[in-house]
Amino acid sequence: MTSRIMGTGSYLPELAVTNDDLAKIMDTSDEWISSRTGIRQRRLVKDETTAFMASEASKIAIKEAGIRAEEIDLIIVGTITGDYVTPSTACEVQAAIGAINAAAFDVNAACTGFMTALHTAYAYMAAGIYTTALVIGAETLSKIMDWDDRSTCVLFGDGAGAAIVKKDETGLISLVQGSDGEKGLNLCCKNRGNHHPFIEGDLHTYYTEMNGQEVYKFAVTKVPQCIMEVLEQGNVTAEEVKYFILHQANMRIIQSVAKRLKVSEDKFPISLDTCGNVSAASIPILLDKVNKEGLLKRGDKLVLAGFGGGLTWGATVIEW
Ligand code: ACO
Repeated sequence: MTSRIMGTGSYLPELAVTNDDLAKIMDTSDEWISSRTGIRQRRLVKDETTAFMASEASKIAIKEAGIRAEEIDLIIVGTITGDYVTPSTACEVQAAIGAINAAAFDVNAACTGFMTALHTAYAYMAAGIYTTALVIGAETLSKIMDWDDRSTCVLFGDGAGAAIVKKDETGLISLVQGSDGEKGLNLCCKNRGNHHPFIEGDLHTYYTEMNGQEVYKFAVTKVPQCIMEVLEQGNVTAEEVKYFILHQANMRIIQSVAKRLKVSEDKFPISLDTCGNVSAASIPILLDKVNKEGLLKRGDKLVLAGFGGGLTWGATVIEW
């Protein structure tokens, strides 16, 4: 017995902001952003919250899976931009969709958040603890961007993606994940500082900071490495894989991974051109896009691979 993805869903905010829109408010250009990243527009929230977007994506996934919310016994959300420190986004989603029988919690693995949530769900199911999981990646990254820092704010967007995972005869084939905390500050967003009446408090609000070149080097080395590892572990060849659903950070990273794996770029579907980098939400949004376009059929083999803040990475081979 393993676990299979039975339904997917996604939600993107209505507000679409193009590179040209950004060039009107900061010193940047469509040429700079699109040639270095492949990003042409991103969606940004107006009044949507992380939990709202996660819940909307979940309702679509639940419907597609043909289950009732009461059947879900586990909800895990990968996010670094929950609406509250507590309750978790997963608990907010539970209330919004009426999944009254679920245990719910969030995981923080930045852009690897959906993969970590998915792997955690797989592990619970393999242990025989739960049978029907709702796994979500949801982010409102626009609220942790310094909109005066053109080197980071142009890269990211907001949105959510979800998947229903159920115990089944086929599905998960293999998975790997890892982290390198020593390199963590290459991509970081500091939390609130210490603050109480007995010290001089730190009331500064911090935003996302990134050493782009270090993150690039990390990604183009670690991602092909972990994909090769997960393929070998699953006894699956790259040729047998229909699609590689990668975290959508940067077109150049995706092209480099394709080259290192000696796989055609056609096997790497893209959503970053229209959504930007949506961190934990990017893999489930892209998976839902490919699914809704009717490109997947039962038995297809897929690789999902995420990488990002922590630094963290994770990849899985699944049978659709
Ligand atoms: N518009 C115009 N110019 C800009 C912008 C911008 N938005 N941002 C930076 N620049 C300028 C810089 O000021 C710098 O100018 P200078 O030479 O006069 O000082 C110049 O462009 C080059 O800046 P770099 O930061 O060196 O740009 P680089 O060529 O490294 O490209 C990029 C930046 C695209 C982020 C690259 O480092 C990269 O691909 N990194 C990979 C990491 C990544 O994609 N991170 C995304 C999130 S992380 C994740 O999801 C895992």
